[in-house]
Amino acid sequence: MENKIILITGATSGVGKATTLELAKPENQLFLIARNKQKGEELKKEILSIKPKANIELLYADLSLQKDIKNLAIDFKTKHNKLDVLINCAGLVSSERIETKEGIEQTLAVNYISHYLLSLLLLEELKNAKQGRIINVASLIPPIAKINFKDIHSKKNYSGVTAYLQSKVADVMFTYDLAEQLKNTNVTVNAVHPGIVKTNLGVETSKGVLQGFVRFCMSFIAITPQKSAERVLYLTNSINLSNVSGKYFKGGQSPVKTNSFSYNLDNRNRLSKLTKQLTDRQ
Ligand SMILES: NC(=O)c1ccc[n+]([C@@H]2O[C@H](COP(=O)([O-])OP(=O)(O)OC[C@H]3O[C@@H](n4cnc5c(N)ncnc54)[C@H](OP(=O)(O)O)[C@@H]3O)[C@@H](O)[C@H]2O)c1
Repeated sequence: MENKIILITGATSGVGKATTLELAKPENQLFLIARNKQKGEELKKEILSIKPKANIELLYADLSLQKDIKNLAIDFKTKHNKLDVLINCAGLVSSERIETKEGIEQTLAVNYISHYLLSLLLLEELKNAKQGRIINVASLIPPIAKINFKDIHSKKNYSGVTAYLQSKVADVMFTYDLAEQLKNTNVTVNAVHPGIVKTNLGVETSKGVLQGFVRFCMSFIAITPQKSAERVLYLTNSINLSNVSGKYFKGGQSPVKTNSFSYNLDNRNRLSKLTKQLTDRQ
């Protein structure tokens, strides 16, 4: 079995945790990102109680903050110059509009900008792997999912669902753009919808209609995190995907299309320009 270095965000709960538990094998060196020290330590203890030979290191970052993401990348680079797999799984949905200390709407910051920035900051390490993979855990991308370019931080009209869908379509559009940039490299980047999954997503942070929707999904239609992790693991491990990049998966072995907004070149160029401004990467 080949040794792999794998970095996973959102490892402390839900889809990320279930994926981590499957990947926790002696041959994999796992870097797990947590924002809360106690939660991180508890996660490590739990994994080691189930998989005593697992190779785990915790790194801490609040992924809503670019300052923390940059420090996280520096931390990783001091330990390794190679990264086989980056799994960008951290995410949230919230009924309340929260702006980060850096002036970014929180859903956009975690669900999209953290995936964007961490991927770009660790690109050299991914290129140093035999076949580097970036996996962006996205969501369903319905026809109404689009970017509000006039008000990307949802200052005027905030809705948790709209902000969530905006962040997820941005994640998918970034996946398509980055795949084009990486065309002649050994690094692939793909996105996956993990399914409707029984996790902590929105459990503490939703109110009203959104809370009702979250409760309904979690009680009646959600799959287990373990089942959902299979989708992420397929993108992580499948040899069939070694040369597949810039695709979106929804559970099957073949990629599926997202909405027309996400493929539109003008939309993608506008988003790319705006994101460079938001992350000071001109
Ligand atoms: N559950 C679903 O039905 C569903 C459907 C479609 C897409 N997804 C996507 O799947 C991914 C995983 O979500 P989940 O369902 O597993 O939800 P979850 O149980 O709430 O897990 C979310 C993870 O993201 C982390 N996170 C959130 N904000 C963070 C921040 N500021 N800094 C660092 N870490 C942060 C959480 O850390 P803490 O443990 O510290 O909170 C947790 O580890 C998300 O991208 C979500 O959008 C889920």
